Amino acid sequence: MATIGGAGALTVALCTSACAPGGYIYAGVEYAQECYCGKAIRNNEAGTNIEDRNMVCNGNATEYCDGPNRLNVYSARQAAPQTPDNWSPIGCYTDNVGARTLTNRQFPAGDMTTELCLAACKSAGYVYAGTEYGGECYCGNSFANGGGPAPDGNAGCNMACNGNSQEICGGPDRLTVYQYASGSATTVSIAAPTATIATSTTSAVSGPSGLPSGWSYQGCWVDNAFGRIMANGQNDNNQLTIESCISTCSDLGYSVAGLQYSVQCFCDNFLRNAATKAPESDCNMACSGNSGEKCGAGGRMSVYSNATLQVFPVPAVQKTNLTGSWTYAGCLRDDAQTRALPYQIILKNNNTANNCISQCSAFGYNAGGMEYGIECYCGDTSDVANVGATFVSESECQFACSGNITTICGGGRRLSYYTWTGTPLTQWNYASGNAAGAYQFLIGGVIIPLVTQPARNGKVTFLEKYGTGAPNTTGAYELDVAQLDNFTAAWRPMHVKTDIFCSSSLTLPDKVGRQINVGGWALDSTYGIRLYWPDGSPGVWGKNDWQEDVSTVKLQAGRWYPTSMIMANGSILVVGGEEGSNGAPTPSLEILPPAGPLVFCDWLLRTDPNNLYPFLAVLPSGGVFVAYYNEARILDEVTFETTKVLPNIPGAVNNFLAGRTYPMEGTAVLLPQSAPYTEPLQIFICGGSTPYQGIALDNCVTISPEVSDAQWTLERMPSKRVLVCMTALPDGTYLILNGGQQGFGGFGLCTEPNHNAVLYDPSKPLNNRFTVMANTTVDRLYHSEAVLMDDGRVLVSGSDPEDDRFLQEYRVEVFVPPYLMGNSTRPTVNMAESQKDWAYGQEYTFTTPDSISKVSLLGATASTHGNSMGQRTIFPAFTCNGMTCVVEAPPNAHVCPPGWFQMFALSQAGTPSMAIWVRIGGDPAGLGNWPSAPGFDAPGV
Ligand SMILES: *[C@@H]1O[C@H](CO)[C@@H](O)[C@H](O)[C@H]1NC(C)=O
Ligand SMILES: *[C@@H]1O[C@H](CO)[C@@H](O)[C@H](O)[C@H]1NC(C)=O
Ligand SMILES: *[C@@H]1O[C@H](CO)[C@@H](O)[C@H](O)[C@H]1NC(C)=O
Ligand SMILES: *[C@@H]1O[C@H](CO)[C@@H](O)[C@H](O)[C@H]1NC(C)=O
Ligand SMILES: *[C@@H]1O[C@H](CO)[C@@H](O)[C@H](O)[C@H]1NC(C)=O
Repeated sequence: MATIGGAGALTVALCTSACAPGGYIYAGVEYAQECYCGKAIRNNEAGTNIEDRNMVCNGNATEYCDGPNRLNVYSARQAAPQTPDNWSPIGCYTDNVGARTLTNRQFPAGDMTTELCLAACKSAGYVYAGTEYGGECYCGNSFANGGGPAPDGNAGCNMACNGNSQEICGGPDRLTVYQYASGSATTVSIAAPTATIATSTTSAVSGPSGLPSGWSYQGCWVDNAFGRIMANGQNDNNQLTIESCISTCSDLGYSVAGLQYSVQCFCDNFLRNAATKAPESDCNMACSGNSGEKCGAGGRMSVYSNATLQVFPVPAVQKTNLTGSWTYAGCLRDDAQTRALPYQIILKNNNTANNCISQCSAFGYNAGGMEYGIECYCGDTSDVANVGATFVSESECQFACSGNITTICGGGRRLSYYTWTGTPLTQWNYASGNAAGAYQFLIGGVIIPLVTQPARNGKVTFLEKYGTGAPNTTGAYELDVAQLDNFTAAWRPMHVKTDIFCSSSLTLPDKVGRQINVGGWALDSTYGIRLYWPDGSPGVWGKNDWQEDVSTVKLQAGRWYPTSMIMANGSILVVGGEEGSNGAPTPSLEILPPAGPLVFCDWLLRTDPNNLYPFLAVLPSGGVFVAYYNEARILDEVTFETTKVLPNIPGAVNNFLAGRTYPMEGTAVLLPQSAPYTEPLQIFICGGSTPYQGIALDNCVTISPEVSDAQWTLERMPSKRVLVCMTALPDGTYLILNGGQQGFGGFGLCTEPNHNAVLYDPSKPLNNRFTVMANTTVDRLYHSEAVLMDDGRVLVSGSDPEDDRFLQEYRVEVFVPPYLMGNSTRPTVNMAESQKDWAYGQEYTFTTPDSISKVSLLGATASTHGNSMGQRTIFPAFTCNGMTCVVEAPPNAHVCPPGWFQMFALSQAGTPSMAIWVRIGGDPAGLGNWPSAPGFDAPGV
């Protein structure tokens, strides 16, 4: 994972100076810590647009060293021009001065360019052309001497053409090879057969005797009428005999050997491209190593096999028997510099139409296609429209699929293009007017918060990473939303003693609803336990402050980036983290008040550093759910042994290693639980990103961890998000907001801010649950938060990118959900103090003059890094009679762990009342008596 100051400490200057002595003319920096040098930019990759750069260098946070799948290239050179029509680049091939891969050298007049060489080969009647060493041109109708695609890919084709420095002309012992479109170079125009012919030739022809056991002669065949009939050519051999070729092929594991032109030996397991037999007399050239044997002729192959010889037809486009509702759309031009479809998957051995497009639709994409035989691409039809890709002749898609020799998977820069033509895979809703909600400015800030947390006193706690903002702040404030028109009165300064940078917070189930914050950055701070007993009331400042003393009350292990949760038994569970900034992992969990030793978690050690701020949940059937990186499991709530390993979380369509927790930071919530609580609990996780490239994920996944054979269900989001927040709303919907579309958690690592709020409504049908809502104008990247206020609005804060591209963001906004827009009328609810401390399964009363449609209980939350610690949405049973409503508390501590909840009553129109804070389940772990130490005030149980 690239991090500032991590291994390498790369800067642009370091990279360019490292490249200079090697005579390289290009230097490129990528992924913040990789430096590449070259003598040319590869043929199919454009110089990166300066706008694309998006990751700071490890060694200098004011420089950029990254682009997803691209380099920041420090040179003035531009991309190679298009190749002439009908020629397609097919890659970088090996060559050898003593044994040429393309055997016919041409010497066109003038300094070498790609165009000169292709024209020379074409006029000499060849279908392959290759440029080498900047100035050489070779042609052929086949690849000789064992030459083929270079094992190191395009790396060796790194020399500019002598006649055009913007093109590549191979390299040392490397050819940049082009192929003339099939059929265009010759006058052959007969249609190739397309039906499968499985031919078995039972040796009606006579061949030499004394062959290796099991091998027999299969006749003389025409090569290259509709394409090469055998692959895997061997080095030309001046000592070639039938026996030596069979022996070579047999040793390589092939069951077919073919000899051609006296010196050439090919190996394969069948004949390809509708091979047809030739008269025996055509194979009339003597073998170079035995004048008594025949080794084919020009365009004729003497074939031997030890098995039943199969002949496959010229591959055809698969148009039937397609998976799902996919339909073949045509052969599509695909410019490598602007891909028609954004997501690439390489399927070296199993690319087929169905393998490719089934993957696309599984991730919600309605367009897919294959290219170059082994490449699969996914995206949307709108991507194709946006780049303006056009259809070309079907004859330009002619590569056999790596997974099925009889079907076509595109061509060079040509996609066999398929579209989903059934019921749309995803339907997003687009709201306008009041239905879209609105962002509004709430108040300017005094700090950039790392944690925000609504308190029982109606105020909101803001905690700041030490040193983030102005130098004279106290680092902890309480926002009094009753005094927004008086800036000084609105922000009550408070005090913490150690650095809360990347700590976690909760509201305790003690009788006063204390707030706790644990962990932090560096040394003592990482052990920090800080407590605040909220006092005061709207409009009136309290007197209590944060209390901490790391010499008496501390964690057992130092933790930076832990998650905390109240368990069913009322204790606090603290999980994971690292020892400090980019430090060693803390692969353990512990209980507060302290009970027992640290519990080691192998799964945290194994997935460090991609599991920070894991997502936790108490399960109704018992046990603790945990999601971390791209994995999830259930732990026993007493021993913390794993009781169930859940399937890995699907990530990106082209990257199963994409993650959901910091630094590939997504967000998670529990979907609503409703009386009578018989439906299994669902966990809902959105966004994240891919390792190294940092391409933000555009999907959410849901699982019911308790059901047998639990599986993840994936839904496409309307946009990509990393560093995303999600806030549960009183009506059972969820607001998804903040974050960027590219990058990771960490300072300066995220770009392309996503300004759009999205509403998720789990009561709607799957794949129709997202609504695109209002936009903000404020970038909210790393260290941004979103919490539900008592009035049903969402308080949106933060952004601490610490780079020179995005603001350090002090402004506090609110998102006003549609239920408060227009002429909405808030129900009035009165609840006696005696009715606010709930025991499981008991009934509690409130009065209201309004007609109530729903009552909801929203767990008190603290927001940091995409986590809403404490979040839970419960719709309890209730009845209203006249003005009196009776609510039934949830049945037990597994359905509803002990804690404080914001209770809302909703009108028939769905507008929530002001929240009433109720406590459910008491304080079974006696947190109210903890800690018993000087400097701490414990409220008692
Ligand atoms: C970091 O890069 C900036 C911009 O290129 C440059 O001005 C500055 O001197 C560099 N700092 C260091 C320490 O190299
Ligand atoms: C043919 O030869 C190949 C290579 O030696 C071997 O793997 C295969 O099993 C043989 N097939 C038969 C039918 O003997
Ligand atoms: C149809 O596809 C299935 C698997 O997707 C394959 O097993 C079957 O052979 C195919 N049938 C035809 C006629 O291509
Ligand atoms: C294709 O093969 C790869 C590597 O063997 C494998 O991981 C992948 O699951 C296969 N994909 C499909 C769709 O069969
Ligand atoms: C290859 O594709 C053809 C044509 O669709 C189909 O009939 C055949 O079953 C496929 N072969 C395999 C091994 O899937």
